[in-house]
Amino acid sequence: MINYKDLGLVNTREMFKKAMEGGYAIPAYNFNNMEQLQAIVAACVETKSPVILQVSKGARNYANKTILRYMAEGAVKYAEELGYKIPIALHLDHGDSFELCKDAIDMGFSSVMIDGSHLPYDENVALTKKVVDYAHQFDVTVEGELGVLAGIEDEVSAEKSTYTKPEEVEDFVSKTGVDSLAISIGTSHGANKFKPEMCTRDENGVLVPPPLRFDILEEVEKRLPGFPIVLHGSSSVPQDLVKIINQYGGNLKDAIGIPEDQLRKAAKSAVCKINIDSDGRLAMTAAIRKYLAEHPEVFDPRKYLGPAREALKELYKHKNINVLGSAGKA
Ligand code: G3H
Ligand code: 13P
Ligand code: ZN
Repeated sequence: MINYKDLGLVNTREMFKKAMEGGYAIPAYNFNNMEQLQAIVAACVETKSPVILQVSKGARNYANKTILRYMAEGAVKYAEELGYKIPIALHLDHGDSFELCKDAIDMGFSSVMIDGSHLPYDENVALTKKVVDYAHQFDVTVEGELGVLAGIEDEVSAEKSTYTKPEEVEDFVSKTGVDSLAISIGTSHGANKFKPEMCTRDENGVLVPPPLRFDILEEVEKRLPGFPIVLHGSSSVPQDLVKIINQYGGNLKDAIGIPEDQLRKAAKSAVCKINIDSDGRLAMTAAIRKYLAEHPEVFDPRKYLGPAREALKELYKHKNINVLGSAGKA
């Protein structure tokens, strides 16, 4: 049994309290390899931002849970070495069972998500409460979810989204004791969040997706004043990255994300945590495709992973400064 406090990590309680008061959101960036972790830590240290390092079940399977535990400890030391101490949480993303959440807690995670959103309401309540009861013994914070997000990832998938029902949130939070709640207001996982026919076009012909359901968010805020809300599926799918990927041999069709101004608006509200994974994948893929196309003779992974890491770092800095508003808050 490893306690996250011994690794220099923090849970999300204090982070969310400050984010709520300050009108910004904490970045929750997914990682599963060294370059991603280096980019996240360097970007957050350089922008003086608190950060949540997020690990999905698929990432645990990919990277190995023991290696991830040491990587997180390394991240804390690396941040210190870069010269500025920032709060770092290690969070299990989309935990799908009590056993997985318990195992993550026992391995040093400071925060876990139990995603029972696809279950009947009462089963979601029971499963979430079981995780909360275990986690709180070790001062580990827990994120629950109500409402279903569409999108398909390795281990996280749903064909259709269902918006969160505001009338359920008070009951869910009081029965489970969760520390934060992920809600569904129109975001979804992956790089194809909207079909082009769902969008309008601006004066430059750029596709504009339908706005998020801020009315649902406001209703949730009214019912849970001061309670931390989480937005999943919050990649913006930058079109310049999609263009580079397709220019250098990729084939991404109809890739559309959440506009940054929508996320900025959400970050000023009770939304305290914004999850971003796909944009990092796009930034890395674009940089690697470009580098390899322009340097066909290269076969040293450091030569193409280096620029990919740099591109990732710039992306995260931009988000902290211009989208989430977390820069300068550490
Ligand atoms: O919400 C899902 C995350 O983007 C993780 O995706 O299961 O492919 O690691 P993954
Ligand atoms: P994106 O696919 O929009 O990056 O969402 C990531 C996420 O919600 C991780 O839990
Ligand atoms: Zn998610």
